Amino acid sequence: VMRERLAGLGLAVPDYAPVHAPDDVERFAAAHGWPLVLKAVRGGYDGRGVWMLTGPDPELVARLLAAGTPLMVERAVSMRRELAALVARSPFGQAAAWPVVETVQADGQCVQVLAPAPGLDPGVAVQAQEMALRIATELEVTGLLAVELFEADDGGLLVNELAMRPHNSGHWTIEGSRTSQFEQHLRAVLDYPLGTTELTAPAVVMANVLGAAEAPVMGLDERVHHVFARFPDVRVHLYGKAERPARKVGHVTALGTDAAEVRRRAALAAHWLSTAEWADGWSIHLGAAVRDSVPKQVEHA
Ligand SMILES: Nc1ncnc2c1ncn2[C@@H]1O[C@H](COP(=O)(O)OP(=O)(O)O)[C@@H](O)[C@H]1O
Ligand SMILES: [Mg+2]
Repeated sequence: VMRERLAGLGLAVPDYAPVHAPDDVERFAAAHGWPLVLKAVRGGYDGRGVWMLTGPDPELVARLLAAGTPLMVERAVSMRRELAALVARSPFGQAAAWPVVETVQADGQCVQVLAPAPGLDPGVAVQAQEMALRIATELEVTGLLAVELFEADDGGLLVNELAMRPHNSGHWTIEGSRTSQFEQHLRAVLDYPLGTTELTAPAVVMANVLGAAEAPVMGLDERVHHVFARFPDVRVHLYGKAERPARKVGHVTALGTDAAEVRRRAALAAHWLSTAEWADGWSIHLGAAVRDSVPKQVEHA
């Protein structure tokens, strides 16, 4: 329904087709080639409900259909990166757009959000914001709308999906914007004037804290102490959820002037909170973070 509506508005979306039988996938592949993407039409999130197919897999399609999963198939878009445009709209008709961000994905799941999207052509950024504002207006959105976009290899923008709510791609706004997405959502639904979407720092990076494949022995509260010992300026948000592999259990936000350095700090902090391991070789010694030049037996004292 979303795809049809967006296409109806004249917006570019990946080529797609509904799937009622395994043959529908083969027919789509005959026209568009492999690889392609099979998607659950509803109920999917964090890449659950998305299957990348490099060749025919009629058993998978038959099994999903038999389990009652409504499916569609679409072209695997060859892209530079993924972007998101976040806007808010009030019933009064006021609208506000944040700077366009880059969303970094791993295994179909967002792991980092870089605000603003590094090196994005200003014309493309405006185009993405205008697209999101137009969708919000046409669909009469009240509150937050996140538009997930693909920046295709030719530089064109395709709309992947919409989220009509505060969204993971906007968590960075809590510290990184004068008005957070949550405050803006409340302002919008209450029909208050919307707040400014100005950044609070030149570079803001949000990194998700994902449950590790095996939960670390060190408790999460102790991990939080260590993360603040090393990065006192990184902001930590924990959702109070049990740690399960790849589950989003929290996020961190780092702010600064050097985008690469801010991203490095956010990534290290999030990885540490997930795994109790510093990805750059630091280790914990008597409660203090020290470099890995310390001999192993001393590290473990
Ligand atoms: N047509 C596509 N071409 C290439 N990658 C895709 C395509 N559709 C989805 N993906 C990848 O899978 C991720 C998850 O798909 P998405 O449709 O956004 O589902 P959800 O976020 O609800 O799990 C996307 O962010 C992207 O990385
Ligand atoms: Mg998505």
